[in-house]
Amino acid sequence: MASVLDMNGDFASSAPNLLKNLPQLSPDQVELAKLLLEVGQSHLFQHWAEPGVHDDEKRAFFDQVARLNANYPGGLASYIKTARELLADSKAGKNPFDGFTPSVPSGEILTFGDDHFVQFEETGVREARNAAFVLVAGGLGERLGYNGIKVALPSESTTGTGFLQQYIESILALQDASCGQVQGGCQTQIPLVIMTSDDTHLRILELLESNAYFGMKSTQVKLLKQEKVACLDDNDARLAMDPHNKYRIQTKPHGHGDVHSLLYSSGLLNVWRDAGLRWVLFFQDTNGLLFKAIPAALGVSATKQYHVNSLAVPRKAKEAIGGITRLTHSDGRTMVINVEYNQLDPLLRATGYADGDANCETGFSPFPGNINQLILELGPYIEELTKTRGAIKEFVNPKYKDSSKNAFKSSTRLECMMQDYPKTLPPSARVGFTVMDAWLAYAPVKNNPEDAAKVPKGNPYHSATSGETAIYRANSLILRKVGVKVDDPVHHVFNGQEVEVWPRITWKPKWAITFSDVRNKVSGSCSVSQKSTMAIKGRNIFLEDLSLDGALVINSVDDAEVKVGGSVQNKGWIVENVDYKDPSVPEEARIRGFRINKVEQLEKDYNEAGKFILKP
Ligand code: UTP
Repeated sequence: MASVLDMNGDFASSAPNLLKNLPQLSPDQVELAKLLLEVGQSHLFQHWAEPGVHDDEKRAFFDQVARLNANYPGGLASYIKTARELLADSKAGKNPFDGFTPSVPSGEILTFGDDHFVQFEETGVREARNAAFVLVAGGLGERLGYNGIKVALPSESTTGTGFLQQYIESILALQDASCGQVQGGCQTQIPLVIMTSDDTHLRILELLESNAYFGMKSTQVKLLKQEKVACLDDNDARLAMDPHNKYRIQTKPHGHGDVHSLLYSSGLLNVWRDAGLRWVLFFQDTNGLLFKAIPAALGVSATKQYHVNSLAVPRKAKEAIGGITRLTHSDGRTMVINVEYNQLDPLLRATGYADGDANCETGFSPFPGNINQLILELGPYIEELTKTRGAIKEFVNPKYKDSSKNAFKSSTRLECMMQDYPKTLPPSARVGFTVMDAWLAYAPVKNNPEDAAKVPKGNPYHSATSGETAIYRANSLILRKVGVKVDDPVHHVFNGQEVEVWPRITWKPKWAITFSDVRNKVSGSCSVSQKSTMAIKGRNIFLEDLSLDGALVINSVDDAEVKVGGSVQNKGWIVENVDYKDPSVPEEARIRGFRINKVEQLEKDYNEAGKFILKP
């Protein structure tokens, strides 16, 4: 093909067989067509000589190619080159970890509520005014199968607070707490970036707009949309045509690793640096516990001066989450990186660990379980992205038709993961982790009821059912830690999953964003029975000698100070099973297998400034 192009500069006449019926092309479009031919993609034009005029479709084809070319660091040529290399490695069965020996990296293991933890939280709150948050929310959520966007889903059904609302209110609470430490206060607005995709963008925007950005300034929130990448049909990286339109290249998501190149190209990182920010916190769409872990983890980053801090939970051997691992190559290279669980066991066995992925004396794997929440120090992050333009080491996962590995069952594409960012860092980079208990830090909603019910016993379901019940458990355990007598949970089966049902305790992030906040708001002898529900929806609500056996809901404005005590008793709110196949039940309830029947409650609103006592 190169020889045809070399013959003369007039592209259309140089490839007459391929390009009959060409519409008038702009010089840029001619360059794109040449590029495609040069990188072995002439099949894309094969049918262009067929009778019939399809000028609009052909122009739209070039628009798409222009987008694909612009949105990938190094353009389509680079995408195809990398694809050929990775596909050849995959065909040869090359192990990406060849030559590497794994070992346990160093990091911080925290115990909730001890002095260390409290100190880290204090430091984290101080640092929060120098932080920006980045939510990756471009994923389709095929495994969950929810018809809406995941961030709109209620994190719990007692108050119906959605994940995005919960995240934004938590960031605002951190902002207030952090500014409150500055003499005379401060005007800081912690930035929030949300990475969206064509699958989620409009619905996330609509959710924000129709809810007044859940209290954030609209200028505080930026949406960055990731684009899909071209699909590949064979080991030669021939681009796949859309099965429904032969003038379109088929595309699929590239993965959450796109967040780094998007942040880089947006220019936001430099804006943040110039504004004096120091940290960027990355998080995912459905972890209702995350912000219980954020203040302490940020405190660890600041104290240990970590360039990269991965949040982690203790990991059972063979549990389906990646392990954070130090890899040392025979040529001296080292990195601290997430190794996917299906790669960790063979890697360990191949490098002298006869038992492979096994628990150690603690009863857990010595490799902490990665939960994909990252805290990066902004300065070194910018330095690295200036070199890489945000490109992340990719992988390809073709499903072959047979053992010859010459043909695919369906098209594939390159993918990249946010947590692979440290792969290109120099050995001098300070890469660590912070381990917290899973009950405190991690309860994502990823699996649909049927798949969750098949999870081996003892492993987390990661369903809407477990995501919600985990919030009640965490809040109950936190209250226990400050001395509240909270009844034991009962065991219950919803959607085929056995879970602990604790009292349904919830609070707004502004009531307590740290353990110390909870400690300061609870005093005397308090108790909560198992059947109880408590929703605390105000900043200055203090529990004093409260005995709760039923449902209690308190709303208050920031200027109201409410002391709540005495004995509250009523029939309360009852958790009722629903059938996940019953179409008359709303999907949000069906996917968790229960709904809340609000039988009787004590509900009080305090809408004016002042001091109040609620003591029935
Ligand atoms: P998940 O592992 O939950 O994947 O993504 P997913 O694509 O959302 O869901 P499945 O696999 O189809 O069931 C982890 C995080 O990364 C985001 C998701 O929105 C989630 O917050 N993500 C994932 C992106 O932002 N972009 C992507 O291309 C993929």
